[in-house]
Amino acid sequence: MHARAVAATTTALLGAIALLLPVHDARAGSTARPSVIAHRGASAYAPENTLSAVDEAAALGILWVENDVQRTKDGELVVIHDDSLRRTTDAEEVFPDRAPWKVKDFTAAEIARLDAGSWFGAAYAGARVPTLTAYVDRVEHNHQKLLLEIKNPELYPGIEQQTLKLLGNEGWLDQRHLVGRLIVQSFSAGSLRTVHDLKPGVRTGLLGKPAAADLPDYAGFADLINPSVASLSRDYVSAVHALTGPHGKPMEVFAWTVDDAPTALTVAGYGVDGVITNRPDVVRRTLYWY
Ligand code: G3P
Ligand code: CA
Repeated sequence: MHARAVAATTTALLGAIALLLPVHDARAGSTARPSVIAHRGASAYAPENTLSAVDEAAALGILWVENDVQRTKDGELVVIHDDSLRRTTDAEEVFPDRAPWKVKDFTAAEIARLDAGSWFGAAYAGARVPTLTAYVDRVEHNHQKLLLEIKNPELYPGIEQQTLKLLGNEGWLDQRHLVGRLIVQSFSAGSLRTVHDLKPGVRTGLLGKPAAADLPDYAGFADLINPSVASLSRDYVSAVHALTGPHGKPMEVFAWTVDDAPTALTVAGYGVDGVITNRPDVVRRTLYWY
């Protein structure tokens, strides 16, 4: 059989399996399938955490984007994953004597000079590390939804309050955004508890996989538990779903990072509510067949 025929047959089989998925919808008891979330934007196709990655997700028809928020030396919130500028910008060339190029040691003006696209591909030369303000404005402009990660909060005292203030200023804390377009997540339970205490209407997700027996400890302030796919099981998803979150609804599960069809089908079969992926088109095609 030719490779193209094999691919077509495989796609058809995956689609058939997707149609048979025992789909769980914690929100409405309907047959909704998992949300597809573009991890750091559509980061397999554009440099992660840039506006290009947001736009690439939008071009693919993907509503949800995930990002990582940190803070500059002079207090500007910016979107970047690592605590160092080294991997995803040309900081090492532009500021050769500033090792180890920590985000927190550079001003916003210095970071604005950096090229955050060339490392990924020449077509993205000149892409910038976005400020959080520019980022949420672009997500809004694209009519998308935001899974905002507070990254390394231990490095940035007060980042929760500052992030919420910015979101409020940009119009992201009205009822419409709170109910359907914003989730704040973190690996830090303390940071999430702070977000919940400061603004109880904001939905929050705890990254990682606490022991099932400890899940009730988080139900007071976390709407979601978001584990790595490697550690996930059907029983764990059920244990999360059995609990009621801070907004009176069953807690949910977004799994990360899922970039291939078989894994997407596996976690969807577990009943997850969201799939976080660098290749949102692959996951969408697998689970929704378009
Ligand atoms: O959204 C899940 C994922 O972003 C957590 O890991 O390291 O990619 O921020 P990381
Ligand atoms: Ca992240």
